[in-house]
Amino acid sequence: MTGAVGIERLSAYLPLYSLALDDLAEARGVEPQKYRIGLGLESMAITPACEDTVTLAANAAAPLFASGEVDPHEIGLLLVATESAVDHAKPVSIFVHELLRAQPACRTYELKHACYSGTAALMTAVQWVASGAARGRKALVIAADIARYDVGSAGEPTQGAGAVAMLVSDRPRLLSVDFRGSGAFAEGVFDFWRPLDRSAALVDGKYSVDCYLRALDGAYRDFEAHRRSAHEASPLPLVDRFGAFLYHVPFPKMASKAHRRLLEADFALRGEDEAPSDDFVEGSLASAVSPYLQACRAVGNSYTASLYFCLAHLLDRDGGRLSHEPISLFSYGSGCCAEFFSGVVGPDAARDDSGLSALLAARRQISVAEYEALRSGQAAPPDAPPDGFRGHFFFAGTERDRRRYLPTS
Ligand code: HMG
Repeated sequence: MTGAVGIERLSAYLPLYSLALDDLAEARGVEPQKYRIGLGLESMAITPACEDTVTLAANAAAPLFASGEVDPHEIGLLLVATESAVDHAKPVSIFVHELLRAQPACRTYELKHACYSGTAALMTAVQWVASGAARGRKALVIAADIARYDVGSAGEPTQGAGAVAMLVSDRPRLLSVDFRGSGAFAEGVFDFWRPLDRSAALVDGKYSVDCYLRALDGAYRDFEAHRRSAHEASPLPLVDRFGAFLYHVPFPKMASKAHRRLLEADFALRGEDEAPSDDFVEGSLASAVSPYLQACRAVGNSYTASLYFCLAHLLDRDGGRLSHEPISLFSYGSGCCAEFFSGVVGPDAARDDSGLSALLAARRQISVAEYEALRSGQAAPPDAPPDGFRGHFFFAGTERDRRRYLPTS
């Protein structure tokens, strides 16, 4: 089988609450511009007590089924990528499989490699379809996470939450994925980790930024080495090859640092004598990177889902303009593993809506005191979700150590 494979449909989901970073800055005695300009963030998504990674994942996928456009019986592979799982043994994917009433004849499992596993899941699904093993069925890939650092730590303003569900098939209406030409990089590092007994991640923040950039260099060099051995002898500059550059976004400023590093690597690989000028980098950032960071500015880090929030935003905003154009995607997961790959925006990108804008508009801003109460675990899961809750399912607490999920009536 050799035809195009990729994302046929995409649906995003955000929790109900958001916390303004100006409010957090004031509470922590930090200059607000540090979060706004220094990190590039405006607010971060916060989950109510009735939401966890299972509900985020199921609520991202549910609209695809509710609209009748996707039949649960055509799903033969259901993958959930997360680093904020709810159980050490029972995977988030099987809870989601049950809530969505997917068919029993389905391979389903959870994937973990920090923020990278959303891409690991997407590539697995794309290759499953391309290999012919799908036998006409489709894959559902969901990236879902709640990013948590200790309250008061340097990582605190870079939290967030959310999920993106992607239907993968041989009808890539939204994005065909060039899985054959991707470049990868792996290196054992302790830049960000979460021991089994902790609910908040530990991070060596500045070092993690260096690891991310080194991984970008490595993955891009592998991508280029493969491309050069496969096709062109003298490539066009990167900025002429891709209509947009999407990155994993722990905070938007990181994507700006990454894009500068990518352009420097491109200049070096093409034998340019000088590094790209500031004007050149700023121009490319303004046209091909920054427009797609807007969702992440408002959501914060959603770990596995972050790169795919950028994709959702790109498709919603510029899907028509970029239709048939190649774009690049860079996925980074601490620890670390990274992948640089490309795809071509599909012919129907302008027609679909991921639901992201409506969810952003419907959020309720909470105070720092409400956020801290949620973090301290004082708020028990309720019998019913709070007013304004837009999910199809909510977490209703545990019974004999079994997690319970109910439909929102
Ligand atoms: P920090 O110590 O709070 O911040 O840590 P800083 O002092 O480095 O300042 C941050 C930026 O704000 C700097 O800009 C300052 O100059 C600027 P830069 O030099 O980087 O360009 N700044 C100001 N700007 C304007 N006005 C001001 C002002 N003051 C300072 N008044 C850090 C920041 C990101 C390290 C911290 O928040 C952290 O540890 N976050 C978590 C780790 C993280 O996000 N790492 C990113 C790479 S690793 C990754 O992406 C993987 C991850 O997603 C996990 C996974 O894979 O699963 C995290």
